[in-house]
Amino acid sequence: YLQVTACETAGMAEFTAVGVVGLGTMGAGIVEVFARAGLRVVASEIDEPALERGRAHLTGSTDRAVARGKLSPDDRDALVGRVTFVVGMAGLADVDLVVEAVPERLDLKRRVFGELSKVCKPSAILASNTSSLSVTEIAVSTDRPDRVVGLHFFNPAPVMKLVEIVRTVVTDPAVVADAQALCGRLGKVGVTIGDRAGFVANALLFGYLNQAVSMVEHGFVSRDDLDAAMRLGGGLPMGPLTLLDLIGLDVGLEVLDTMYERGGRNVRHAAAPLLRQMVTAGLLGRKTGRGFYTYG
Ligand code: CAA
Repeated sequence: YLQVTACETAGMAEFTAVGVVGLGTMGAGIVEVFARAGLRVVASEIDEPALERGRAHLTGSTDRAVARGKLSPDDRDALVGRVTFVVGMAGLADVDLVVEAVPERLDLKRRVFGELSKVCKPSAILASNTSSLSVTEIAVSTDRPDRVVGLHFFNPAPVMKLVEIVRTVVTDPAVVADAQALCGRLGKVGVTIGDRAGFVANALLFGYLNQAVSMVEHGFVSRDDLDAAMRLGGGLPMGPLTLLDLIGLDVGLEVLDTMYERGGRNVRHAAAPLLRQMVTAGLLGRKTGRGFYTYG
């Protein structure tokens, strides 16, 4: 019966305005994805400095697109003009869907979703960009668990085509269908999966990334040779250490720690000590100018 309902209502929701809460690397990238697709976006952060960082991220990315001849200055201005930056969540009352992209802490996400329940209209879909936390545990902190899904984008969000659509045991199939239709409108491919630690992509990817760090840590291979091996021998756009620098070592460590705890303490996901030490030392990758590599 539920499947029939899903087919009948597939892609029925009208998305005109959407919200993004948290404007770090992922949140700011997701704002750009929505605005590029012609949607009005309310971009929310906790305070002015964080809001300014989000705004600078969007400006930098769209200016680069203009410089590369990918976007006309007029289209850039129209894109940026579709985004309203707000401190706090009060501005999200009229949006049709919100994507939350705050740091990967369950208590923080549950607090944000509790607040969204109060602010957003009852029909709004509430989505989380979490990469490894339980969408179910987030959903039950709201007044509408049936309208909560995971919408997991990949870094860099404007480029990567995949979105993992995570359904829980209580997500309304019509909401999943609407999320799927929205992904199509964004030029992305949505894959639908259940609420398992790391979903699909990270569950498979992070064991590999972690093992790459271990190999370098044990002096088995140099950083450059390891990355070259996987880039040239595995047909990948970048080696695992370069990719960790892109993802952010702090994000990588959080994903591994969460999957280790949620996924039955699999040794594959026991974070390499070197990774933890680098995070403690503030070597977080591109965003701090230094990780496995140094950035100018
Ligand atoms: N924002 C917008 N556009 C960007 C961008 C960014 N941050 N970075 C690169 N691009 C665009 C460039 O403008 C360029 O566009 P055109 O081809 O149209 O000119 C294109 O992407 C390619 O960029 P470059 O030529 O500069 O460099 P590249 O060919 O090496 O590509 C890359 C860069 C797209 C990042 C590519 O190396 C790649 O796909 N790397 C793997 C990324 C990956 O695996 N991401 C997933 C990480 S896991 C994750 O995110 C999940 C999680 O939960 C942690």
